[in-house]
Amino acid sequence: MSGAGNNRRRFLEVCTDAVMALIGACIAVPAVAYVLAPVRRWTGRKETGEDFQNAGAVAELPLDQWQLVTLQLARRDGWEEVRVRHGAWVRRSKDPDGQIEVRSSICPHLGCPVNWRPDHAEFMCPCHGGVFDAQGRHVSGPPPRSMDPLEYRVENGWLFIRWQDFKVGVAERIPVRT
Ligand code: FES
Repeated sequence: MSGAGNNRRRFLEVCTDAVMALIGACIAVPAVAYVLAPVRRWTGRKETGEDFQNAGAVAELPLDQWQLVTLQLARRDGWEEVRVRHGAWVRRSKDPDGQIEVRSSICPHLGCPVNWRPDHAEFMCPCHGGVFDAQGRHVSGPPPRSMDPLEYRVENGWLFIRWQDFKVGVAERIPVRT
């Protein structure tokens, strides 16, 4: 084959390689970006569970009564972000200082939701009969500790609660990252 023919063939090979590389990049870049997207989304941002959630207006909380409020949180489930709901028990004192108490509704025994029984002035867990007094202190039954307090803050008359999971079944209050 002549030199011109070789050059043309070489040129076509280079062009073919370039086109194939371009096609490969067009496929690979979006695929890699898709796989790494959750990592980018979660990196450099606070864990969702560390955020304070708006739990409603303080003025609407009944005085000296426990009320269950719902907190909605975003959680990571593998590569997906899912919405989960948790309950927190809240009580506002009728004293002038209007002190607020917040307890997790999750029983520290095995994690069932704890109910407030106003007629008995106590919390009770329906799963194994754990009982807590009106301050959330453990009274009887299998729970190894009192109800877990949750952090809160009040801003412009709104109550914000920071949800926290704790290890169940142990006497020590150990925060769990979720
Ligand atoms: Fe509450 Fe067992 S889960 S007493």
